[in-house]
Amino acid sequence: MNATPASEFSQLEHIPTRISASADEACTFVADAITALIKERNADAKPTVLGLATGSTPVRLYRELIRRHREEDLSFERVITFNLDEYYGLSGDHPESYRRFMQDQLFDHVDLKPENTHVPDGLTPREEAFASCQAYEELIAASGGIDIQILGIGRTGHIGFNEPGSGPESRTRLVTLDSLTRRDAARDFLGEENVPRHAITMGVGTILDARKVFLLAWGEAKAEVLAATVEGKPTDTIPASFLQQHPDCVFCIDEAAASHLTRQRHPWLVGPVEWTPTMVRKSMVWLAGKTKKPLLKLTGEDYTENGMADLLTEKGSAYDLNIETFNTTQHTITGWPGGKPKADDTNRPERAAPFPKRCLVLSPEPTDDVFCLGGTIHRLANQGHEVTVAYMTSGNLAVPDPDARRSIELIIELGESLRDEAEVTHARKVEQQLNEKGLFGEDTADIRQFKGLIRRGEARSSARLLELTSDRLRFLDLPFYEKGRYRRFKTSQEDVDALAKLLNEVKPHQIFATGQGHDPLSVPALCFETLVAALHACKDAPWLKECWFWLYRGPGAEWETHEIDMAVPLSPDELVFKINGIYQHQTQRSQSPGITRQSENTWVLASQINRATAEVYDALGLAEYEALEGFKRYVPEI
Ligand code: F6R
Repeated sequence: MNATPASEFSQLEHIPTRISASADEACTFVADAITALIKERNADAKPTVLGLATGSTPVRLYRELIRRHREEDLSFERVITFNLDEYYGLSGDHPESYRRFMQDQLFDHVDLKPENTHVPDGLTPREEAFASCQAYEELIAASGGIDIQILGIGRTGHIGFNEPGSGPESRTRLVTLDSLTRRDAARDFLGEENVPRHAITMGVGTILDARKVFLLAWGEAKAEVLAATVEGKPTDTIPASFLQQHPDCVFCIDEAAASHLTRQRHPWLVGPVEWTPTMVRKSMVWLAGKTKKPLLKLTGEDYTENGMADLLTEKGSAYDLNIETFNTTQHTITGWPGGKPKADDTNRPERAAPFPKRCLVLSPEPTDDVFCLGGTIHRLANQGHEVTVAYMTSGNLAVPDPDARRSIELIIELGESLRDEAEVTHARKVEQQLNEKGLFGEDTADIRQFKGLIRRGEARSSARLLELTSDRLRFLDLPFYEKGRYRRFKTSQEDVDALAKLLNEVKPHQIFATGQGHDPLSVPALCFETLVAALHACKDAPWLKECWFWLYRGPGAEWETHEIDMAVPLSPDELVFKINGIYQHQTQRSQSPGITRQSENTWVLASQINRATAEVYDALGLAEYEALEGFKRYVPEI
């Protein structure tokens, strides 16, 4: 276990926080604690009481516990569980209910006694809700209280469904969900309007009563709220911050989730740091932002007044540091993302040769390519490179039913007018399945196939605007996605083989990919995991030695400026091209997980992100562009 130990860097933190290199490593740590307790209690023939959470976060922990049950004889026979919460209005067998989630993710795979598993009842009549919540509390107490409580954290700072406003004295009750929480759940329910408005949740006080608490968090999306929870004052605007009052609570988080903690973000403010080139650039971009000065105007006082005096001592003058970082940042900018042929490439992010390059863009879902690097793809294609875009998953789960219905009606009408019976019969079958599935039912294989085709059409139409013909597009439909659903995906060798086959066929000189640092159960993260495994499978292939990797951040976000190794400018016209490309993904107009405000559409958000990056470069004193797309160089460890 090599999680970062607490040190002077953690002096601002009010909750012990373990930063692990990966979610799996953190889950092993927590699983060890749970295993030790269960074994100790089993040996004394006593029960162990676990408080459990749902959502993406604990899934890997539950998988590890199932593995230990199967392979290491860990018995849950005496374990009693209490779940934190349940959507109000959903029955236990509803596909999105937390009871169903727990059955699928843990209960059905271990020897827990069904009567020992407790999840609040989402169908409790309104008038009985108060009494039923009290009974839940009493049952916890009668079982001896919770020994270990597992928590995730929402972007509102909720634990359980204790939204902002919940105090430390709150107990199990019926609550109204925050709009951000409902937006985060919109994908699961195929649209925000379908997400229940209420839930039953244990209170903050109920959680604080647990003897030991582990809060888990993965991925960058949680970084901001985690920093506020761990470093801020306890406040009911961030209910998780009340965990500061718990005597035995540990946050187990991965590096991406930790990235906003001061010890990660501004380590020079809390202790001595090793001034690597990345750290120098990171601190100087921060300093320029803080002093609102371009890099070349930073003075010695700016450094010393902002905790960076040792950088000056170590590296010389402000003048030298300013010039060096200015040049490094300047050299990230290129209008030639595939390298400029026959040019001196000493100070360019990409190599000039070979030209043209075989460029492979890996897009987890059909919108990600254009959303994140539409401008770059357009340039690569225009500059004569051989661009292939591979859509790794079909993205069919993200097509709302009304969009599918509209298209199916079109097919029926066309089929009828052409008297194409086979087509009409099939389309009617899909239509009927859509009618039968109801609002939250699962999509049948036929519906999923049909929705996948809709997304293919959108991808083709978008790619056309980026000057890519359909023969440049590949649809991998990776099996993990086709067989799964959100928060429950699991990759396998089949996925790796499919991608390795494509890689060996294309033999790329350049690969654009995403998913690093995302929530490990998200589609981009699973696609990235598949890529890493596929690269291992191709490790002896000659093309791999010549291949460079460029990571894009993913929809809804951009790398931090100091992380960008290649910045590709977009002129006003190119930005318009890109926006038109995104606009072709009509079924995704407001589905993107990056959408955080209702008024925003995917295309608005994409241009805001790219414009914001250009503004930061401008503020640093570099050239002023309309928009920029950023990439980080990645060197796989193979
Ligand atoms: C789930 C729960 C919630 C989640 C939180 C994070 O039972 O109580 O507080 O832990 O919303 O959700 P994920 O893990 O999906 O990011």
